[in-house]
Amino acid sequence: MLKIAKYPAEILRKNAKPISEFNDDLKKLAEDMAKIMYEDDGIGLAGPQVSLSKNIIIIGDSDEHSWKAYINPIITYISKNTTTTEEGCLSLPNIFGNVTRPKKIRFKYQDLDGKTHKTKAKGLDAIVIQHEVDHLNGVLFIDRADKITKGQDILDSLKNNGDNK
Ligand code: CO
Repeated sequence: MLKIAKYPAEILRKNAKPISEFNDDLKKLAEDMAKIMYEDDGIGLAGPQVSLSKNIIIIGDSDEHSWKAYINPIITYISKNTTTTEEGCLSLPNIFGNVTRPKKIRFKYQDLDGKTHKTKAKGLDAIVIQHEVDHLNGVLFIDRADKITKGQDILDSLKNNGDNK
């Protein structure tokens, strides 16, 4: 069974590897990731967050429990207009912060069958996709946060633990 990697786990700081095999194992992985994401009330999850160095992200709709897997996603355009949202992360429980990101993006990705798609996103989808693509590059929302709004004390103690390892 998959388990969520929690900060300061090292895997969260590594670049994830591209996926080249589109088979039943990959479909099973996507399903398992979606399951654990919903169990933890998340709306996005990236490979490194389940301790796998793989370029896969799952984006979910919390109301409908529908989800989609994006393989090897690459952001190809970001708008100049930005928006600031309070973000959280399953790998950083009980910590939240305000992050400013481009409002609209275009990106390309492969689906679970390996077919390439080009698409765009705005609103919450654009934010979640940027947050998850960051995970594939070892970047966490705390690196980008203008301000930690909740859980600064938790973050400080985790940082100290990480430094002492
Ligand atoms: Co996250």
